[in-house]
Amino acid sequence: MRLYIDSADVKQIARLNEYFPIAGVTTNPSILVKENRPYLEVLREIREIIGEEKELFVQSIGDISEEIVEESKFITSELPGKVIVKIPVTDEGLKAIKLLTLENIPTLATTVYTAFQALMAAMAGANYVAPYVNRIDNLTGNGVNVVAEIAKLYAAYQLPTEIIAASFKNVQQVHDVCLAGAHTVTVGPDLIEKFIAFPATPADVADFKSQWQKTYGSDKTSLVNS
Ligand code: G3P
Repeated sequence: MRLYIDSADVKQIARLNEYFPIAGVTTNPSILVKENRPYLEVLREIREIIGEEKELFVQSIGDISEEIVEESKFITSELPGKVIVKIPVTDEGLKAIKLLTLENIPTLATTVYTAFQALMAAMAGANYVAPYVNRIDNLTGNGVNVVAEIAKLYAAYQLPTEIIAASFKNVQQVHDVCLAGAHTVTVGPDLIEKFIAFPATPADVADFKSQWQKTYGSDKTSLVNS
């Protein structure tokens, strides 16, 4: 399991990268335009924060395969480190994934709503596929089931493509896709913070500390000075 941050907010990325086990950052056009400044400047700052070993995902916006291939080469040459191009699973997108695979440029097939889209993307050579869990749920589908079906198909056909489940509105959805066979997840900063937010934990920690200090003295704040 790997965890990615689905955001381009550099402050939140810096905090989460410091505290959580983060494997990289995913962006898309909606996420980048929220920052309202030159997108390459934002991506370079994210790269500075996460370093060159962690993956940074950038989505193409071109409509036809030639444009997508050109964008992919451009973005991988502009940014240092591991960059993965996200490509929507349209017919032109699939063609671009095939062409980029021939050139060993890693891709993620995105805007995935069905297991069969994911199957086509994997057969075209995509390194990752991103099913949109909450958006599927909003269409009265079942995002977790789609992830489970993709995992089953990939196992049956021994496809090496990894499922990076995306689009979540609550922690339960993330929990459920992990159990359904997602290899990795990408999640917005606010939801990642909620992964460990459980009221009993800070209450227990406060009890431990207060018992300690009642016995050893209120100035004893750690094992080192007790
Ligand atoms: O990575 C894809 C994701 O950003 C879509 O999420 O929350 O806009 O449905 P959302």
